[in-house]
Amino acid sequence: MGLSVCRVGVVGVGTVGAGVIHILLKRPDLLARRSGVRLQLTKVAELDRARALAEGVPEEILVDDFAKITGDPEIDIVVELIGGMGVAEKVVSSALEAGKSVVTANKALLAEKGAALFALARKKDVALAFEAAVCGGIPIILALREGLIANHILSLTGIVNGTCNYILSKMTEEGAPFDKCLAEAQKLGYAEADPTFDIDGIDSGHKLALLSALALESWIDFPGLHIEGIRNINLMDVEFARYLGYTVKLLAVARPQPETGKVFLSVHPALLHLEHPLANVHGSMNAIALEGDVVKEAMFYGRGAGREPTASAVVSDIVSVARDLCGNTDATSWTPRENPMYALAPMAQYRARYYLRIIAEDIPGVLGRVMMTLGNNNVSIASVHQFESELDNNRVPISILTHQALEGEVLKSLAEIDSFDFIHGQPVFIRIEG
Ligand code: HSE
Repeated sequence: MGLSVCRVGVVGVGTVGAGVIHILLKRPDLLARRSGVRLQLTKVAELDRARALAEGVPEEILVDDFAKITGDPEIDIVVELIGGMGVAEKVVSSALEAGKSVVTANKALLAEKGAALFALARKKDVALAFEAAVCGGIPIILALREGLIANHILSLTGIVNGTCNYILSKMTEEGAPFDKCLAEAQKLGYAEADPTFDIDGIDSGHKLALLSALALESWIDFPGLHIEGIRNINLMDVEFARYLGYTVKLLAVARPQPETGKVFLSVHPALLHLEHPLANVHGSMNAIALEGDVVKEAMFYGRGAGREPTASAVVSDIVSVARDLCGNTDATSWTPRENPMYALAPMAQYRARYYLRIIAEDIPGVLGRVMMTLGNNNVSIASVHQFESELDNNRVPISILTHQALEGEVLKSLAEIDSFDFIHGQPVFIRIEG
């Protein structure tokens, strides 16, 4: 199928807007090759002209009024990235009214005004895509719309606000006070412009409303959700919980009750047992654990905030809408390329840390010769343990953890070590990852 062109207008060069523009300008060929559609960044609207130029927006496509994008008959897709409610709502509604598809990361707008906006999109037969509105870089909307399409979702539990998770993680791990942790989260760019949205659970509530709309096919008006934040969580409870084998997390929870036709939708702090998979989601990371009646348990994990992860999700929406618009849903666009991007690398060039284990006779000089062999092959040792053992014939197991080393050199060392007459059995070699 030939390459179609799709014209894109971006409104807002803030954190996420700049990230999206960078991808569109730097990766047009990659996106075209993979999707069969060439995205053309046609106009960018931003009031702060200096900021837009500093972010690399070409001067000739920069405008100062979103209406120059929503009113431009040439533009196919409008990307709303100014956030907030007032102007953003006008951008989205006027673009939809003009028959343009819209991509947005604006969870507050969709959760609170989505019923009317989605109705307008349906009426105009255009897309209103919002992957980036829920958990940034995690493709959870795509997963719910496509990957899990065969399922009734039986429950959903998520850590969907990076700021709160960052604060609670810091309180747990460092005993740091709430206000200090919040200030750090703001500095790192995770928090909303008004961080009370994060810490009072409102941002999580917005995301939960959108998740439930998809996962449970139930649009619940946002004010109906039960929402508690983390303002009242203090260090003493975090520490007590830890002592009892639990950790404190802010959760977004959906529990449908098929027998009554009702659903609990709630954002609240909760104790999770340390062995629960969500208990190990630390810092600003997000995760969603769900259960489908067919797929059973599934979990999605990734970065829910920040310029690049969110921009990654926005661009995925733009591409997906563009493919639909151009009727270019040609499945063959994902067949392997004729010229592969990478050639296969031999494992001898792999670099990792390694766990080695040998069985040696417990006699003078053994350890020295083993260490010398590794050193002569540029393998640096991080730790060595010789275990007193009850093996027969005065034999002892020795484990060695290496620093980062070249696999070929580690294997060469092991072959040499294996040839010593005081070594017995096959040396064990396991890579240490992560
Ligand atoms: N403030 C949000 C968070 C950003 O902390 O998760 C992404 O929605």
